[in-house]
Amino acid sequence: MSARLTHPSITPAGRPVRFCYDGQPVEGLEGETIAAALAAGGIKAMRRTRSGQRRGLYCGMGACFDCLVTVDGRASQRACLTKVADAQQVRSTQPAGTAEDPLQPLVPEADAEPVQWQVDVLVVGAGPAGLSAALAARRAGAEVLLLDERLESGGQFYKPLATSHRAATPTDRQFAQGLALEREVRGAGVTIVQGAQVWAAFSPREVAALIDGRARVIRCRQLVIAPGAYERPVPFPGWTLPGVMTTGAAQTLARAYRVAPGRRVVIAGNGPLNLQLAAELLADGTEVVAVLESAACPSWHQWRPLLAAAYTAPDLLRDGWRFLRQLRTHAVPVLWGHTVVAAEGRADGPGGLRSVQVARIDAQGHA
Ligand code: FES
Repeated sequence: MSARLTHPSITPAGRPVRFCYDGQPVEGLEGETIAAALAAGGIKAMRRTRSGQRRGLYCGMGACFDCLVTVDGRASQRACLTKVADAQQVRSTQPAGTAEDPLQPLVPEADAEPVQWQVDVLVVGAGPAGLSAALAARRAGAEVLLLDERLESGGQFYKPLATSHRAATPTDRQFAQGLALEREVRGAGVTIVQGAQVWAAFSPREVAALIDGRARVIRCRQLVIAPGAYERPVPFPGWTLPGVMTTGAAQTLARAYRVAPGRRVVIAGNGPLNLQLAAELLADGTEVVAVLESAACPSWHQWRPLLAAAYTAPDLLRDGWRFLRQLRTHAVPVLWGHTVVAAEGRADGPGGLRSVQVARIDAQGHA
C-alpha cells in the first residue's frame, strides 16, 4: 500500500522511476531519496547488522548510518541522502568484493586526482545559519562557495519540498521564508553546491569534499562551519527496530517527500517540533495515535517563563497553541509527563515496529 500523502496545492513533479530493492521492483519519483521511495512502498527495513538484525530510516539526515544500502555495487550509501534513479540496483547487503559480486570504487579512477578550487569564503551547511552567513559575506564583496550535504538548501529548519514535488504556493510560513532566503542568496551570486560531503579540514584554509563521487580540495581565506544540529535520541529497548525514527526523520519524509512515516504514528519526545509534526501529519490524513511530551503540562503557575516566551517568541507560542487546538479537534491524546519505555516488533524481518510501551515520568525524572 502506498504511503504517499496528498495535498490540494502540492503535486508530484518528478518523473516516475523504477528501481530494484533486494530483487523486488519499487516505484519512485525522480528527485526523492531511496529512503523516501522505499517508505512510500511500505518498506521499512534497510541495512543488516552482523547478527542479521535489520535497521531502518532513523535520523533521516545522514548522521546515524542506519539506512546504509549498496547502490549499483557501491557499498555503504546512505538511503536517506541518495537519490533514486531508473534501473538502480539497491540492496540491503554489502557486496562480497569477489569477481561475481564486485565492489565499485567511490571515486572513478580517471578522477582520482582531486580538483582544486579557490574561493574567498567557504561556508559548510546551507541551513538558515549557513545561508545567512553566505549572504552576508557575499554582500561584503567576497566570492562565496556554499557546500551542503543534502539535496536541497534549507536544512532541518526550513525542510524544503524536494524536487519530486511542486507547490503552487508555499504551504506555510517556514516554506515561504526558506524559499525567500535561498532566492536572495542565489540572487546575490553565492555558488551553492548540493550533495557535497565535506569530510576533512586539513587546516582552516584547506577543506576536502566529495561532490558527485569526485574528490575536491577547496582553499579558502575564511571558513564558516554551519552544520546545524541533530536530535538527541534517547535509547530504550527496541529503539533500533525499523519503524522507530526521530521526529526530524518523520518530518522530512512528510514535509520534504510527501510520504507518511507509517499508517499509525505515536510521537514522543520533548519540544514544539513534536506538536508541529503531529499537526502536519493530521492535516495530511495520517492517523496520530498519541503525542507523548516528556515535560509537565504548562500551567499558569509558570506565568514568568510564559510571559518571557510571549515577549521573546510570540510566534512560537501562537504556533504551539494552534497545534494543540488541532490535536484536540482530532481527539488526539496529548500525554504530558509521559515517555516511551519500549518498542516491540521483529528486528529480523521486514515487519519492524508493532507497538510501544509508555510510562509516566516521576518527580525524579524516571519513567
Ligand atoms: S543516516 Fe540515513 S537514516 Fe540516519
